Amino acid sequence: MAAATAATATAAGTQHALFRPSLNPNPLRSPTFSRSPSKIPSLSISCTAVRSPPATPSIATKDRLFNFAAGPATLPESVILKAQADLFNYQGCGMSVMEMSHRGKEFDFIIKKAESDLRSLLSISSDYAVIFLQGGATTQFAALPLNLCSPDDSADYVVTGSWSDKACKEAQKFCKAKTIWSGKPDKYTKIPSFDSLEQNSNAKYLHICSNETIHGVEFKDYPTPLNENSILVADMSSNFCSKPVDVSKFGMIYAGAQKNVGPSGVTIAIVRKDLMGSSQPITPVMLDFKTQADNASLYNTPPCFAIYICGLVFEDLLQQGGLVEVEKKNVKKASILYDAIDGSDGFYVCPVEKSVRSMMNVPFTLKKSELEKKFIEEAALEGMVQLKGHRSVGGVRASIYNAMPLAGVEKLVAFMKDFQARHP
Ligand SMILES: Cc1ncc(COP(=O)(O)O)c(C=O)c1O
Repeated sequence: MAAATAATATAAGTQHALFRPSLNPNPLRSPTFSRSPSKIPSLSISCTAVRSPPATPSIATKDRLFNFAAGPATLPESVILKAQADLFNYQGCGMSVMEMSHRGKEFDFIIKKAESDLRSLLSISSDYAVIFLQGGATTQFAALPLNLCSPDDSADYVVTGSWSDKACKEAQKFCKAKTIWSGKPDKYTKIPSFDSLEQNSNAKYLHICSNETIHGVEFKDYPTPLNENSILVADMSSNFCSKPVDVSKFGMIYAGAQKNVGPSGVTIAIVRKDLMGSSQPITPVMLDFKTQADNASLYNTPPCFAIYICGLVFEDLLQQGGLVEVEKKNVKKASILYDAIDGSDGFYVCPVEKSVRSMMNVPFTLKKSELEKKFIEEAALEGMVQLKGHRSVGGVRASIYNAMPLAGVEKLVAFMKDFQARHP
């Protein structure tokens, strides 16, 4: 319990000493975080059958593709290799993370450290609960109004793409949710000016999707709710942890992990604590933020392995220098890709207004649309896969999340130039 208490007490912007990762450049060495033996019970349990697998770290970089999928998406190689090394026998305890009790001390350590590292990355203050949930971001579309509204309360939605549209439609089942602005007439290529938003003065919350994964539209700044008792809520699924965010501007942030921070199966919610505790009576217990927070995300069996991988990703992001450094890399990758599109004399076209183009999901079309299929097929032969645009919009989409290396984007840009030269 010492670990649990310590993690919960983590202050904004600080990383708890108990969970501070050591800077271990070798992803193949097992435990990489140091613990203070005087303050935390040892994690090793007495297992008799401790057998390590033969070291098989050998699926080397050269065998991996550049995966531009929108999600589930590419993960840092160092994280996958570390998970691989620990898969068979986690830290010598004689079993994998997939097999251990979610109430045992090993998993208690894993989940508390994941939370602590995420709090450090985003400077999340103790005014907020961090909870690991299931059901994807889609489940939060319903959980949000169920927790924050009564059926007669209103809520405002800024609809900048398919995901915010879906979120609004789901919320309409549980409160008076209203689309106060829609980018649909412009095929979701814009973000509105905040002054033009006709907010309802009684709205309980103002909802945005900070990055529309399908349309490639990203908020670079955030609107303020009109009513001072209202809060801003963001679906950050596809740009979570891609850059620093001032969490204090939001009442709630939620994100499915499978784009930037882990595998599918876990959704992370950051909820201001004073907003919890007045859910609608019909709220299923699994969707009740207070129940989840009071039980430290362990009300029932959580997605243990997915949380463990998220923890490794958070550790990796901290080792990179935190989100300021991560953002610099993302800006560089996005710039070279957008420059290649804009410098192609119209051979490639990105429809999104320049000031709100996503750093994570880059949709583009080819002027000669009949070449798009060939483009995607030839790119795949070169080891660059999952470039097909979402089925609802077509074209090409390159998702360049945190874990996409610069080399992957450079290779794509070189291929784009070559492809253009071959199709004058
Ligand atoms: C921005 C955004 N919100 C919500 C979702 C839905 O997420 P899930 O499939 O985890 O329910 C997605 C999925 O791609 C998304 O990109």
